[in-house]
Amino acid sequence: MHSSFFNYSIIRPYPYKWFTPVAIVGLLVLAVLLSVLNFVQNSYTLVVQYSNDPNSTIREGIWFNHWPSYLTSSVRPTCQPANLPVNSLVFTNQSGLAWTITSIYQNDESTVALPSLPYMNNIISGCVIPMVQMELDGSQDQDVSNLEHTQWNVQVRAFITCHIYGPIGPMMFNATALYDGIAPYTIPGSTVFVARDPIARSAMFWAESLLSAYWTQLSTTTWTVAEAMKPTISKGVVTLTPSGNNNITSLDFFEMTYYFLTPSASSGMYFGGASDPPQTLGHMIQLGDSAQAKPPIWQPVDSLAKSMYSAVLADLGQTFAPPESNILSTAERLQSFTADFHEIEQNSTVYFFSQLESESYDARQAGPNPTGPLDLTASVIATNYLCQVPQRKPLGDIVIAVLLADLVLLQAAWKLYTFAVRSALFQKHPSAKRCLGCLDETPSLESPRESDHSATKRSLKSCVVVSTLPSTHSERRASQVGGRRWKWNVFARAD
Ligand SMILES: *[C@@H]1O[C@H](CO)[C@@H](O)[C@H](O)[C@H]1NC(C)=O
Ligand SMILES: *[C@@H]1O[C@H](CO)[C@@H](O)[C@H](O)[C@H]1NC(C)=O
Ligand SMILES: *[C@@H]1O[C@H](CO)[C@@H](O)[C@H](O)[C@H]1NC(C)=O
Ligand SMILES: *[C@@H]1O[C@H](CO)[C@@H](O)[C@H](O)[C@H]1NC(C)=O
Ligand SMILES: *[C@@H]1O[C@H](CO)[C@@H](O)[C@H](O)[C@H]1NC(C)=O
Repeated sequence: MHSSFFNYSIIRPYPYKWFTPVAIVGLLVLAVLLSVLNFVQNSYTLVVQYSNDPNSTIREGIWFNHWPSYLTSSVRPTCQPANLPVNSLVFTNQSGLAWTITSIYQNDESTVALPSLPYMNNIISGCVIPMVQMELDGSQDQDVSNLEHTQWNVQVRAFITCHIYGPIGPMMFNATALYDGIAPYTIPGSTVFVARDPIARSAMFWAESLLSAYWTQLSTTTWTVAEAMKPTISKGVVTLTPSGNNNITSLDFFEMTYYFLTPSASSGMYFGGASDPPQTLGHMIQLGDSAQAKPPIWQPVDSLAKSMYSAVLADLGQTFAPPESNILSTAERLQSFTADFHEIEQNSTVYFFSQLESESYDARQAGPNPTGPLDLTASVIATNYLCQVPQRKPLGDIVIAVLLADLVLLQAAWKLYTFAVRSALFQKHPSAKRCLGCLDETPSLESPRESDHSATKRSLKSCVVVSTLPSTHSERRASQVGGRRWKWNVFARAD
């Protein structure tokens, strides 16, 4: 008989009762488990998309989000941190002021300015507002589009230092925001606050109303005061720094330094100077009409600065700032700062301009269109994040992929199971390696008491001879079974 290079193995039923039930139940359980796993692994692809709320994009994920990450890491949604470079314009999710990031560094002592802020939707915290500055311009060389509305334009700038706990650890950044009440009227399409929502973001709506009203008041007052002054003033800058008194209704909340210019450049700097000791509003009011207190615009300057300060705290979501330092934190304080809104509008000399709100807080709340609750919420910088989110594949693809993977893994499981059972069997009963038909030949029969006849007869039907060695090693054997002579080759196994 020809002996091929390839061979087949002997077939014998496993001599265990439990083998079949374990095999069937095991395969069924495994099939279910593997199908689920393969479904997770094969039925989603990651697609790139933009998100402005990466935390919920990552959290919402998919139904197997709570599975151990070593199983699902390849289909988990992920988002890249955003990078906010120095000089970029950003705003918070309160949709208020537009901030220009001016410097970024890692901690207080660090002198190394970083080029950009790695940012991952981190809550802005620990902000300080070291300075609010006002530029007043009543000169003839300002933009003609401004002069159409008012002789005196006012620009209010807030300076801040804030902290975030970002993707590479704690970071600090400095930023500035500008409020120019006339800008939306002079620059087509421009806004001061990014968006307005008197119901959902009531505090921001009132912050903008305060700014708009006190901007009007300061512009009006400065015009009146400057007209009456001899010599008059043409430009000025007022710098206000918090005095450390946290009570925003106090006359000592800010300390200010200022200087104003006369129209003729030869006269140079006019009142006061940067080197003067800073004065509080209370002190200026005490000075009354005296020359040191000129120009007497300090009440509107103070109110506008306090409005800016409160708007910044609300915009940056500084819920941990002392509540008494924020006009917007209680309805009573807001009412006292908005009580004059109607009168301010009546007095206004700003043309083609309307205050955002001309009623006081209480009047508006009692009217037909009350604003929403004044709650302050924490803020994050609004930006877009590049995310990879799982997307289901077409059903056909999933079925084929899961079937294929199941087949491969189930086959492997079957091989492992039979290998383990066989190894144990062979160790216990070495004769199990022989085909049933050969059992008679050897002294170490598995069931020596079984009658030769029946055993051999049965085995003959199922006896398959293993050929693992070239035939030269074979020995010819003959055996007489049931009165007939049978001849076949038994190839010696290595054992
Ligand atoms: C969003 O997640 C990041 C970490 O991935 C965390 O630092 C940040 O505080 C979270 N932001 C919010 C608003 O929960
Ligand atoms: C950031 O602002 C703080 C004041 O809050 C100032 O002391 C610091 O020098 C500023 N840092 C840079 C790099 O401008
Ligand atoms: C804040 O100052 C005002 C006026 O100066 C005063 O009436 C009020 O009681 C003060 N509030 C607190 C909390 O000190
Ligand atoms: C309105 O103008 C009058 C007269 O100039 C002045 O007495 C009053 O204080 C002004 N009111 C406000 C709120 O500016
Ligand atoms: C801004 O984002 C923070 C953090 O996710 C959230 O707590 C707050 O409610 C948001 N504020 C607004 C006005 O959407």
